[in-house]
Amino acid sequence: MMKNIILFGKPGAGKGTQAALLRDAFQLVHISTGDLFRYNIGNNTSLGALAKSYMDQGDLVPDEVTIKMLEAEVDANSDAGGFIFDGFPRTSKQAEALDEFLHGKEMRIQATIALEVDEEVLIKRLLNRGKDSGRADDQDEEKIRNRFEEYNNKTAPLISYYIAQNKFHSITGVGTVTEISEQLIALLDSL
Ligand code: AP5
Ligand code: MG
Repeated sequence: MMKNIILFGKPGAGKGTQAALLRDAFQLVHISTGDLFRYNIGNNTSLGALAKSYMDQGDLVPDEVTIKMLEAEVDANSDAGGFIFDGFPRTSKQAEALDEFLHGKEMRIQATIALEVDEEVLIKRLLNRGKDSGRADDQDEEKIRNRFEEYNNKTAPLISYYIAQNKFHSITGVGTVTEISEQLIALLDSL
């Protein structure tokens, strides 16, 4: 069966790390909106310039451009056996747009899985990565806290959106990468 999965969680929870493993385990296409924005920044596109002005502060990029970029990426992978969405949706508007967009293609989300990690652990992870990631948003605790604030205000409300659809699951994001991935794979196998 085709699986379309959303990996959900605060900044640094391990979405990107786990998405890469799930992609290989289930032959899914991994779409990270953060990675797509960073790719655009690296290639000096106008979308990159726009996104950078928000990302460097730890603010969300506006919905309209984010949704358009995500839909284009899904369309560019029309032969995919399923998708793993990492870091999208992050607002109610994005979640509704995704449902509507997938519905138009006779596709749907099977599950949204949150990786749960305390903010203090995440701050350490992100500051540590910031030493050599080159990500401006990883280098300053104030910006990291702003990313959490964006998550708590705009993204956390999606939990009830997916609970209402009976699609919400959560697991701990603390432990080794392998331990967490085994739990994720077991959960997806059980769907
Ligand atoms: P995005 O790139 O999505 O970043 P993020 O959600 O802030 O978080 P990260 O990607 O940093 O963390 P992650 O959960 O992927 O964890 P990772 O595996 O990397 O977004 C960046 C920005 O882009 C946003 O702030 C916003 O401006 C913009 N943006 C993106 N999507 C958007 C959207 N939909 N709408 C609007 N704006 C959007 O791991 C983190 C670190 O922890 C790594 O160093 C990793 O090695 C380590 N790690 C992983 N697993 C473990 C473990 N089990 N134990 C210890 N360390 C671990
Ligand atoms: Mg990521």
